[in-house]
Amino acid sequence: MISPIKYHNNKIIIIDQRKLPNKRVYETISDIKSLYNAIKNLKIRGAPLIGIAAAYGVCLSSYLNSKKSNDDYKNSILMDIGFLKSSRPTAINLFNILNKAEKIVKTGKLQQEISIDIIKFAKRIHTDDSNMCEKIGFYGDKLIKNDMHILTHCNTGIFATGGIGTALGIIYKSKLSNKNPIVYIGETRPLLQGARLSAYELSQESIVCFIIPDNARTYIFDKYRIDIVIVGADRIAMNGDTANKIGTFDIAINAKYFNVPFYIAASSTTFDRSIATGIEIPIEMRDDEELYKIGYQGLKNSKVDFINPAFDITPGELINGIITEKGIIYPPYEKNITNFI
Ligand code: MRU
Repeated sequence: MISPIKYHNNKIIIIDQRKLPNKRVYETISDIKSLYNAIKNLKIRGAPLIGIAAAYGVCLSSYLNSKKSNDDYKNSILMDIGFLKSSRPTAINLFNILNKAEKIVKTGKLQQEISIDIIKFAKRIHTDDSNMCEKIGFYGDKLIKNDMHILTHCNTGIFATGGIGTALGIIYKSKLSNKNPIVYIGETRPLLQGARLSAYELSQESIVCFIIPDNARTYIFDKYRIDIVIVGADRIAMNGDTANKIGTFDIAINAKYFNVPFYIAASSTTFDRSIATGIEIPIEMRDDEELYKIGYQGLKNSKVDFINPAFDITPGELINGIITEKGIIYPPYEKNITNFI
């Protein structure tokens, strides 16, 4: 399995996902600013993977500041943690993991001990995520029947996690259990995570996959066969409202209209226990440039404005179930999420 991130010799090695699938370019990150830019510019992306990258970022910061006095060492890492938190606002993994790392640094006494603890922590985050993906795949596979037509969105596979993925992980498991899944995936404009990353991953595993324009979705639901929708999540509120890649809410509305079950696949680390509903989830608005780069550069300096949200919130009431590493959570979410996680 390709690894989208590694921590080796006090450096973070990533695959620059902006260049996939045309070129597989490895980039070595040896300072915090470069890591911040890699996350912000989506060289490395996907909620769980951003969290893993941030955890390795704290290891890198610990190494870079290791010659300082104990207090300076700790303060410098805490500053880097604060900086990394500002890279992207929506995925909860980044904040949960950096908050835990912050605690290790604050409560640790000596630099030697903190640096060892932080490496152990980051490695565990990475392994735990891989294990959770396997279990999500196991539970999700129970929903898949032979020759099912599955619609998914964005990229939730090996380029988004520390393992086989969440929604894509389920598809991999169903392929392994010889169920012959047939996958439909929106391009995921403007950065094309669906077309560039998911279709690439699936084709590597010889899984039948159709790339569709994002705005062909209703047509596909209407004229083709879609049996189930499974997508990932960046943050889930305690009532089941789910932030995921822009376009997910449209898919859920289509699924409801066409009577197709709509599932979220995400580990329990994606729930935000501090928020009751999705209204409180911050939505990342991205640069205009991502839009006009697609093919209308001529508008760059015109009076036309752009709106470029990276995520939307699908209301819990449109979600049939949330597939986690502990099993599938069904409505009523207000009650069942708390009991489950
Ligand atoms: O902007 P991205 O590419 O980081 O968005 C990724 C998604 O929306 C994924 O669906 C989500 O992070 C889940 S990945 C297992």
